Amino acid sequence: MTQTASPWFARAAEIPSSWLYESFRIANEREREHPDLIKLHVGEPAFTPPDSVAKEFAAAALDGRARYIDVQGLMELRERLVDKLDTVNHVDTEPSRLFVTPGSCQGLSALMRCLADSGAEILLPEIHWPVHLQQALLAGFRPVFYKLDEHFAPDPESIRQVATPATRVLLLNTPSNPAGAVAGLPLQRALYEIADEHGWQIISDEAYEDFAFSGPHLSIAALERDRPAPERIVNSVFTFSKGPAMTGYRLGYVALSRPETATAMRTVQESCIIAPSAPVQYAGLAALEASGALADNHDFVRGNRDAALSALVDEGLLPALPGGGWYAMADISSTGLTGEEFSAELMLHHDVVVVPGSGFSARPEFDPDGSMRRLKPGGVASGLVRIAFCVDREQLVTGVERLVGLVREKRDQ
Ligand SMILES: Cc1ncc(COP(=O)(O)O)c(C=O)c1O
Repeated sequence: MTQTASPWFARAAEIPSSWLYESFRIANEREREHPDLIKLHVGEPAFTPPDSVAKEFAAAALDGRARYIDVQGLMELRERLVDKLDTVNHVDTEPSRLFVTPGSCQGLSALMRCLADSGAEILLPEIHWPVHLQQALLAGFRPVFYKLDEHFAPDPESIRQVATPATRVLLLNTPSNPAGAVAGLPLQRALYEIADEHGWQIISDEAYEDFAFSGPHLSIAALERDRPAPERIVNSVFTFSKGPAMTGYRLGYVALSRPETATAMRTVQESCIIAPSAPVQYAGLAALEASGALADNHDFVRGNRDAALSALVDEGLLPALPGGGWYAMADISSTGLTGEEFSAELMLHHDVVVVPGSGFSARPEFDPDGSMRRLKPGGVASGLVRIAFCVDREQLVTGVERLVGLVREKRDQ
């Protein structure tokens, strides 16, 4: 362990929009003049929610089920989710520790605010979803980054090395965004033991739970289902955006480890949202009834992975097919270009949009007085680009072919 962190802070105005947002904006601008643009930059799936979801959403809005409700969400939905967590995820919880949130993004943000403390550090993967970093900074955490192995899975030894006495939280995201890494049981056990030994809380972001391709998805909270709630350490975060594709509905949920965290979450959630949208929660109930769609969506994304990404493995751009999720990080460093340069050329000359890797490994820099000066892009992921493989299959295959073509062209120059 190294020494305790010095005082520091980050203001919202000093934290830039993520590179995901930037890519989104640039691609939309480009698309106006190039309608055939192939968009592999954003995780918007080719499939849509079951019709019953939209019908129930509209019915709830039309028949007056659209009033303020409890700050934690509809009891009917929370009870159904407690049941789902038990039977599907083997996670034990209860409605009093379950919060429905407007997307899991708000759930993660609120949770980090509940767990942050003056000077507290959060351990994030060195290559991470940039929103996790924004959320950590906004909550007042000092982010510290742990290494990933060659398959982008967390390295427990590095976690021990970078931890300090100020560490409070370990963030785990499996299957991961951006690299599609899946943490198996031995790794999850190792991470749980380290966190427990040090008295940390774990934030487990399981947004891609329905897209684990090499075996069933494992929730790390299942490891502590027999511990009394006041001693638990895992806070698990889920969403309706991925499995049932309800990206625009904004519906997620958080199963909190301890009753005291639930007390804090009530305050944070009340102050931010009063309560989650009621019609959206009725739509969520309809989605839970139509769970057959999840298997179809899983098969579709897995089929995309197999059809399109093997070309990246064969070309030496990926170490292996991603074990889960919706994204892969291709290593284009052999072209001599950075991820930014490569992405720009791919969009401008080949009409394919991907996201440069540097935005997934940005690091905050601090002034001597402890204030955050800037978020510096680059680092370990600067020779990588992120490809979303949840999109239309034909578009994906064509987009990957063009990407590989550009890599070959640059290598041969
Ligand atoms: C890892 C991860 N967590 C959480 C989210 C948030 O999803 P939502 O707010 O739509 O539930 C996303 C969305 O892309 C994600 O990739």
